[in-house]
Amino acid sequence: MNAEEYKALVDELIELLDEGIYIVDSQGVGIHYNKAMAGTEKVHVRDVLGKKFHEAFPDFELGESTIYRALSRDQATRNAQQTYKNLYGKEITTENTTIPVMVDGRTVAAIEVSKNITDLRRVSDSLLEIQEGKMEHAPIRGREIMKYTFDDIYGENERFLEVVKRARKAAINDASVFIYGETGTGKELIAQSIHNNGSRAGKPFLAQNCAAIPESLLEGLLFGTAKGAFTGAVDRAGLFEQASGGTLLLDEISAMPYDLQSKLLRVLQESYIRRVGGSRDIPIDVRIIATVNEAPEELIAKGLLRKDLYYRLNVINISIPPLRERVDDIVPLSEKFLDKYNRRYNKQVWMLSDGAAQKLRAYDYPGNVRELENIIEQAVSMADNEHVLTEKHLSMPEEVVPMQEPTTRYDQTMPLDKYLSSVEKQIIADEMVRAKGNISKAAAALSIKRQTLQHKLRKYDIR
Ligand SMILES: Nc1ncnc2c1ncn2[C@@H]1O[C@H](COP(=O)(O)OP(=O)(O)OP(=O)(O)O)[C@@H](O)[C@H]1O
Ligand SMILES: [Mg+2]
Repeated sequence: MNAEEYKALVDELIELLDEGIYIVDSQGVGIHYNKAMAGTEKVHVRDVLGKKFHEAFPDFELGESTIYRALSRDQATRNAQQTYKNLYGKEITTENTTIPVMVDGRTVAAIEVSKNITDLRRVSDSLLEIQEGKMEHAPIRGREIMKYTFDDIYGENERFLEVVKRARKAAINDASVFIYGETGTGKELIAQSIHNNGSRAGKPFLAQNCAAIPESLLEGLLFGTAKGAFTGAVDRAGLFEQASGGTLLLDEISAMPYDLQSKLLRVLQESYIRRVGGSRDIPIDVRIIATVNEAPEELIAKGLLRKDLYYRLNVINISIPPLRERVDDIVPLSEKFLDKYNRRYNKQVWMLSDGAAQKLRAYDYPGNVRELENIIEQAVSMADNEHVLTEKHLSMPEEVVPMQEPTTRYDQTMPLDKYLSSVEKQIIADEMVRAKGNISKAAAALSIKRQTLQHKLRKYDIR
């Protein structure tokens, strides 16, 4: 077997392995680099093969590199855990074994075998957090535990960074917060981050969408009920009591009935609640974060939001701009979501093509960041073995086609239902004439049941 054949054999062999394999020659030039390794480090094989180690990984401190240690000092390293950032700034954790290869007392190569344990590391971190009790109050939605912190908030746009700055200030404070932002702009993300970064972090965070619950139940849900308040009422604590010491997020507060808004105002002023049908005043200690997805001034003007309640809640005011007003955030957010869904779907879509970036930036996102996230999730989940996400992967709702000019105009000489009846009557009468009075024939021509036609003949008094 000649050298070339032998290399082909080794190439095949190392591609078969699940572990990442990186081999450099005595000069530190990459001579083997398999796909498993490329997947972990998120670089292209061609960027490493034939390149010196420090060209391929410019950010790496040479002294810390196990490859370098093997080559220059003949030192082997076994099962060493390393956490570092790959070319795209993504933090990964690997477990590496690196050995020098000696021939006639000379180091001719170094071999590194690397296992990606990033996900294992994350799992163990979360387990530790659970044990430390950090997560015990995370609200459970369905089966998923959500617990956002400021680390989960991405964005570089100047206005958006101002928003995050305000939110961070709100976290060290205990005043009520009023958040305005269109759907999907991250109101809940910010509300949770404020809670989790503040002194109430170890206490419950509860959220209630005021629009999601019938008006009649909302009061009992918030303030609790006392036995006998109404048929079937039991003694039960409401969200205010359950959130004691913590934070209550009231989403779409403008959907709360007007009367209840004034009760809420009183509760906030007095720091007591009374269960529905109850007689005892119960002291409460709950921070309120309220949200709306329309401009508060408009909601007040429409009579949906009480002005006095708004002023009371609006101690700290946070207004999140819609995504279409921070276009410079679209690509950075997309890259974060790429990363997230690569992990979730075990894909290796590492970057956006220029065309994809352009298409993403051009869209106007009525559903804001949530919609962008969904678009990227869908694209990643559909991608095959591709590393670049292109515009063909992106499906956005079609441009709205301008409506056609109306072809008829209804003249208002009579109400629409009367007009339609008169037209129906005329059509049926004509059809009866054509069928020479044969009801079955006329019904067939009109594609309706015989009985239906009979009924209409009576109704319109035809014949
Ligand atoms: N700046 C951001 N960085 C990262 N993810 C974000 C950001 N903004 C929003 N998201 C994501 O978008 C989704 C929607 O966010 P969130 O639920 O906080 O929005 P919302 O304003 O409460 O929406 P709605 O009014 O519909 O309740 C979430 O998956 C969230 O993680
Ligand atoms: Mg929300």
